[in-house]
Formats: sequence, structure tokens, C-alpha cells
Amino acid sequence: MRTPLIAGNWKMNGSVERIRAFGEAFAKAEFAAALDIAVIPPFPYLEAARHAFSGTPLTLGAQTLNPQPAGAHTGEVNAAMLAEFGVTYVLVGHSERRQCYGETNEDAYQRVRAALDAGLVPVLCVGETLAERNAGATRDVVLGQVAAVMQRLNADQRERLVIAYEPVWAIGTGLTATPEEAQATMGEIRAYLVTLDNALAETLRLLYGGSMKASNAAELLAQPDIDGGLVGGASLQIDDFFAICQSA
Ligand code: G3P
Repeated sequence: MRTPLIAGNWKMNGSVERIRAFGEAFAKAEFAAALDIAVIPPFPYLEAARHAFSGTPLTLGAQTLNPQPAGAHTGEVNAAMLAEFGVTYVLVGHSERRQCYGETNEDAYQRVRAALDAGLVPVLCVGETLAERNAGATRDVVLGQVAAVMQRLNADQRERLVIAYEPVWAIGTGLTATPEEAQATMGEIRAYLVTLDNALAETLRLLYGGSMKASNAAELLAQPDIDGGLVGGASLQIDDFFAICQSA
């Protein structure tokens, strides 16, 4: 009952030419089952993507937003601007934002709220570092990051969210959580959602991210609590990204 979502986070990569090639390749794409697909390029490529993806199953995502209203914030882009442009999804709390730009759970909450208020779908990213995993703190860290946002949302807001579990040690390292490891933590997230609301737990999509690629996507996506993928490196190659979409 949960439509799978495959989202390609291009991070600070890409080009107008790559956008054009994705649009062309996916224009002919057919998928057996219902599937949502998003490409999340850097801001400057959104305009090219809007044109190139028209008439394809590809929708648009943004990698971050500033939660404040319009004003004197040089270099920033806010939720209303993304919504006006036609962006559907926005990443919030990605581990690279947490680690490199000091974003906290409070920042994640503010960004989720701004996204929801503008009608965007926030993809809240959570995940433990290797040190936290080795210390046996995976569950506490991950559920702490989820709860820090979910506890402050009302029922209507919660149901419009997507959550992506991305173990930090698996991002860009080639190390993937085994399907069982990913399922174990994502099952914990689902169990936490049950404590909030059964219907919410049934419908909210949980994505796995961290070295997902064509060769491991099917096994990961076969897990009961994995409803899609947040794909980094492999989303930059048409064939790989296409194969991952087909696995879903
Ligand atoms: O947001 C996607 C992500 O961080 C995973 O990246 O390159 O390990 O697939 P990658």
C-alpha cells in the first residue's frame, strides 16, 4: 500500500548535459508497478530539470532549504521559492549537512516545518555514525533524530513526511548495511511510528540510503520496512539509477 520512492541525491554533482540525458532516457521508461521517482540536483540545475523531465516520471527535489521567510539571507533559498518553482521533495537533516554545516535536530525540525508549511514533502534523513554504531547506540541515535522532529508535529503534518535511514558509515564508502541490518533499524523506526499512530506507521514511507546500487537494491527493497531508496553515487549514472528504479 506504500508506493515506493526512489530519490537520486546528486549532491554537488551534475551538469545541464546530464540532466538532459536523464530526461531523454526516462521519457521512454516504463515500470511494472506504481513508483515515485525524484532527482535531486544542485539548485542551478532545477530549471533545466523542470524542462527536461516534463513528460517523464521524474519529479524534482531540492537538497536543502532555509527555513526563514524571504529577506536578507545572501546565498539562501527558502521553502516558498522551491514550492513556487515546482519542487516536490526537499532533503532535511542529511548527515553531510549535520556534519559539515552543523545542522542540529532543532534545525531539522525548523526545516521540516517550513517545508510542510509551503506544501513540500520533507525527506528527513537520520542515521548513526560508525562510532555510535560500535558503541551500540544505533537505536537511540536514530530514534532520537526521528522523535526530535515527529514529537513536535501534529497528525496532519506527520503524514506528509518521508524518512530516510542513512547509516553515516555506509554513505559514499561502498559499505552497505546488509538488508537485515537496514531492516532491523528501519523496523525500529516503524515501531516508533506505531507508538504515535497505527495508520501513520502503515502509510509513512521509509527509504534506505548508503551505497545503494543496482546490485544490492533488490534485496534491500525486498525488506518489509524499506519502501524505497535515497541514492547518492549510483543516481548519477543513468543505467544504474534506472536499474534501481526497476528493482522497486
Ligand atoms: O543521500 C544519499 C546518500 O547520502 C547516499 O550516498 O553515495 O552512499 O549512495 P551514496
